[in-house]
Amino acid sequence: MGAILRLEALSKQFVKDDVGIVALRDFTLEVEEGSFVTVLGRSGCGKSTVLNLLAGLIPPTSGAVLYRDEPVSGPRPEIGYLTQSDTLMPWRDVRRNIELPMEIKGVPVRLRRERAAELIDRVGLRGFGRHYPRELSGGMRRRVSLARMLVGDPETLLLDEPFGALDAQLRTDLQAELLRLWHGSGQTVVFVTHDIEEALLLGDRVVVLGRLGRVVLDRRIGLPRPRAAHDMRVDPGFVSLHKEMTAALAEGATR
Ligand SMILES: Nc1ncnc2c1ncn2[C@@H]1O[C@H](COP(=O)(O)OP(=O)(O)O)[C@@H](O)[C@H]1O
Ligand SMILES: [Mg+2]
Repeated sequence: MGAILRLEALSKQFVKDDVGIVALRDFTLEVEEGSFVTVLGRSGCGKSTVLNLLAGLIPPTSGAVLYRDEPVSGPRPEIGYLTQSDTLMPWRDVRRNIELPMEIKGVPVRLRRERAAELIDRVGLRGFGRHYPRELSGGMRRRVSLARMLVGDPETLLLDEPFGALDAQLRTDLQAELLRLWHGSGQTVVFVTHDIEEALLLGDRVVVLGRLGRVVLDRRIGLPRPRAAHDMRVDPGFVSLHKEMTAALAEGATR
């Protein structure tokens, strides 16, 4: 399959107090339809900026963002975005948070209810529809956000360090669930992380970014799925990829 997303020579400069801050310089990336790409990089290298550009939330300073060969000039319904920080509405319960995108689209109440119930099940939150975000754990809130993103059946998912703030076990559970939801869906995923192991457990391909979004390494990951962390840690192929990624991150930090 061909590229669904294409970033061509993208540069992004922010202006703060009259001072220009370059976040990305001359960044080029193609993402193949149906693939799971992880973008790995240290904090501040421009990962969130890349996703914001892909999602059409901010315009590039120069270069082009293309989705199915069309320029992206604003948010599109085919692209779901799970941001780094929680954006659930505290005054809405789980069900109504998940229904929000459908409410905006004018989907009739009954259909909304049905669809929300189905998603609540799919992300493992059955019985929690009437709970408010403050009554949920961090992991459960992430599940709600995931469900809200999936509600419009986006063909492309952008995820920005979605499990970064969770403890290790929960993180492993949610990674497995994300893969289960993705597998066979045909969806394209761009998953941002600063964690090497997470990048390798999830991706068909890992793109390592250095400063200003310089691509230090772009590597296909041929490890068979499912990839359980405890098996992988002793798998020679995985260990060698882990080393390669560690070196790439270190190199990225220097230039
Ligand atoms: N809205 C903004 N205004 C000014 N600078 C920004 C803004 N967003 C990001 N930056 C800067 O751009 C660089 C890349 O940020 P970001 O994309 O958030 O990195 P990452 O997600 O990899 O941690 C950083 O130097 C950051 O301070
Ligand atoms: Mg970020």
